Amino acid sequence: MTERLSGRVALITGAASGMGACHARAFVAEDAAVVVADIADEAGAGLAQELGERAVYTRLDVTRADDWAAAVALAVETFGHLDVLVNNAGLLDGGPLGTYTEKQWDRMLSVNLTGPFLGLTAARDALVAAGESSVVNISSAAGIQGVAGMHAYTASKFGVRGLTKSAALELSPHGVRVNSVHPGGIATPMIGVPVGQVPPIDRSANPRARLGLPEEVSGLVVFLASRESSYCTGAEFVVDGGLTAGSAIG
Ligand SMILES: NC(=O)c1ccc[n+]([C@@H]2O[C@H](COP(=O)([O-])OP(=O)(O)OC[C@H]3O[C@@H](n4cnc5c(N)ncnc54)[C@H](O)[C@@H]3O)[C@@H](O)[C@H]2O)c1
Repeated sequence: MTERLSGRVALITGAASGMGACHARAFVAEDAAVVVADIADEAGAGLAQELGERAVYTRLDVTRADDWAAAVALAVETFGHLDVLVNNAGLLDGGPLGTYTEKQWDRMLSVNLTGPFLGLTAARDALVAAGESSVVNISSAAGIQGVAGMHAYTASKFGVRGLTKSAALELSPHGVRVNSVHPGGIATPMIGVPVGQVPPIDRSANPRARLGLPEEVSGLVVFLASRESSYCTGAEFVVDGGLTAGSAIG
């Protein structure tokens, strides 16, 4: 164990699967205490058990303000304070204009954008009280550039980028930093990749010619959660294998 997050208490949403679970493991390995939050109770509770006394699971539907209040209270009651919020929970779907429904749109915005807003709202006072605290909002490469047929997802992830900047400006005088992380395609269940597999992709689709691994995002999230990133706020951190750098075809 190294100790880059010693003394830090983190609440991570969507932590039962994919990148969220990887972040939770990385945080505990860096000596943080973690509230593993999700709606996937069995997987979330299993992960918390695996992580031991430095972790606790709670059911948190990020679209519900009452769930948020309870999760923040649990973090403070269990571990004494809350220093880090990782807004990671998310959905992915798509469909062409004319087919994609308003109901789908509302659901996507509710989880991917209203969720982080409710989290910032619920955790604000605890983060201010903790001092030197950090919020990491998981956006996407789709929060940097558009994706055909993924209107709600890209709108939600562009929204997270904007919410990040406004919250960073408002909360900076109170000692709370807020940054956004923009992964490209990462091998997780969200995009149908079984755990542990990294299928190659064509170099024209990504300069690194492969998907990313959750661990390659967790390193960045640990940095942003730690005091090592003390001068970073309101910023975008891209981890996408070069996807948004431009065209890979000369
Ligand atoms: N995998 C990728 O290629 C990729 C790329 C860019 C950004 N992202 C983003 O990274 C984040 C994590 O994605 P992942 O790939 O690990 O996905 P994943 O599907 O493996 O995990 C998402 C988790 O969010 C949880 N969740 C869904 N709705 C929820 C709700 N209402 N309340 C609480 N939890 C809820 C799910 O139960 C699941 O455990 C998401 O915000 C996603 O948009 C993923």
